[in-house]
Amino acid sequence: MMAALKSVLRHGFDVIERGADRVFSPAFNPFAQLGALGYFLFWIVAASGVYLFIFFDTGVVNAYASLEWISTDHWYHAGIMRSFHRYASDLMVVVMGVHLLREFALDRYRGVRWFSWLTGVPIIWFLYISGITGYWLVWDQLAQFVAIVSTELLDWLPIFGEPIARNFLSPENLSGRFFTLMVFLHIVVPLLLLLMMWIHIQRISRPKVNPPRAMMAMILAALLAASLWKPALSQGPADLSKVTSEVGIDWFFLPLYPLADLWPGGLIWALVAGFTLLILFMPWLPPMKKPQAAVVDLAHCNGCARCVEDCPYEAIRLAPRSDALPFPNEVVVDADLCVGCGICMGACPSSTPFRRSGDLATGIDLPDFSLKELRETTIATAAQLQGPNRILVLACRQGAAAASGDATVFLPCVAMAPPSLVDFILSRDLADGVVIAGCAERACYNRLGVEWTKARVAGERDPYLRGRVPRERLAMIWADRNENKRFEAELAAFAETVGQLPKTGPRMVRAAPPQPADGRAREPVS
Ligand code: HEM
Ligand code: SF4
Ligand code: SF4
Repeated sequence: MMAALKSVLRHGFDVIERGADRVFSPAFNPFAQLGALGYFLFWIVAASGVYLFIFFDTGVVNAYASLEWISTDHWYHAGIMRSFHRYASDLMVVVMGVHLLREFALDRYRGVRWFSWLTGVPIIWFLYISGITGYWLVWDQLAQFVAIVSTELLDWLPIFGEPIARNFLSPENLSGRFFTLMVFLHIVVPLLLLLMMWIHIQRISRPKVNPPRAMMAMILAALLAASLWKPALSQGPADLSKVTSEVGIDWFFLPLYPLADLWPGGLIWALVAGFTLLILFMPWLPPMKKPQAAVVDLAHCNGCARCVEDCPYEAIRLAPRSDALPFPNEVVVDADLCVGCGICMGACPSSTPFRRSGDLATGIDLPDFSLKELRETTIATAAQLQGPNRILVLACRQGAAAASGDATVFLPCVAMAPPSLVDFILSRDLADGVVIAGCAERACYNRLGVEWTKARVAGERDPYLRGRVPRERLAMIWADRNENKRFEAELAAFAETVGQLPKTGPRMVRAAPPQPADGRAREPVS
């Protein structure tokens, strides 16, 4: 059931995101920026909120009037800020919801990746409480409805000695103290939200928290347009002597409120608690995947820290050297954080298949799929290639190549393949061409795998692909699982191009020299 839902969602996201790729280009695809957009919207809400507080009267008697003044007399600055505050908050709910669904669809929340998911759950609560308390402060008819329904719901819980809904049953009972509490909560809860958003990204390296500038400008322009077209307004002053009848609902923040008005409080709480518990435990629901963590082999590690820089999950740290080798540092893997993507292995200068030693070892390796096994699998897969244009595919298990068949070496992430592996394949004439086939650029399963691979091939990031590797014999295809057709077409086109290149035989390659003592890169020499 869960798997079917995930598969449908993934398919849906793939289709929509491909369209967005065409409209915005992969670099500006909003789906690849959802977390960063959430942050950006938070800053807009915070800045516009601070601006509004300058003019807002925090007492229950004058709150409504001060907001009327903001929206009418001073609509051109404070009124626009009010609309920014409301619409950016609404958009934040949308962005958060899509981000949650997308991480679920991409299966990026299970096993050791539980942390970001779990810390996302309080974010949902904090965002909703911030919005609900915000609507309360307007003290218009919607606020009255929100106040009554919220307090009735809270009264259902055994927290307060006396029913607090009483405060809103008649004008005489209205308590300014309760309103002050709401003002306080509307400041404190967003601060807690920010704290949680910060904790949320602590276990991933280089999190994207700022969208591209052009995207920020577009959002600001869209918010301005919405603010001018349909300014955020109040809905008539609250009047506790009357029962609120027709109020306009903000469906982003208050979707449960009309239901709460009709259904018993217990049912609403059961729904909310059930949803919270379900997503809280989702990372541990079967089927569990627990890949073995990367292991360090100090005899082959010079402490250069490339693996530390490339790991997308902050799973590796530098530590003082514990053996007799003349390097200041070594690295330590935290098994609880490691997802087994192998990117560290691809980053390590010791990971070179050219080494002669039978028991091919490297500085950091995956027990589930070691460098030695990678070399053996590559040689065995290449041996099956036939015909004039033999193309070997190094593919990520998450991308389009997952559905295609032979001549493919599957990896947990394409960035696990050290660039020297491509050099090895071509210089040993194991194939006429190599295809690196990863996930779609906007949705790399391991966040940074596509970026690191591209930078290594372009010579912008160590360990880079050596200049001697004939680039016309290498192609990179980024395609999601549902883009199998495009993948096959690009693969066939590449095979044809390679078929037209002059034949080359194997080149002689000397074994790699011993590691230099300065911790710099070591590349195989020919
Ligand atoms: C407004 C609220 C939120 C903001 C601003 C936010 C922000 C972010 C950011 C910046 C990242 C890093 C993205 C990257 O660079 O790859 C991230 C990752 C993630 N978020 Fe959120 N998030 C929010 C809500 C949530 C919620 C509600 C959930 C789920 C309950 C969630 C689940 C995740 C997961 C699982 C990842 C990690 C993905 C991975 O390991 O590759 N987030 N979030
Ligand atoms: S396999 Fe390596 S890069 Fe990937 S999470 Fe583990 S330590 Fe980090
Ligand atoms: S030598 Fe390899 S294992 Fe050691 S720090 Fe450098 S990249 Fe990491």
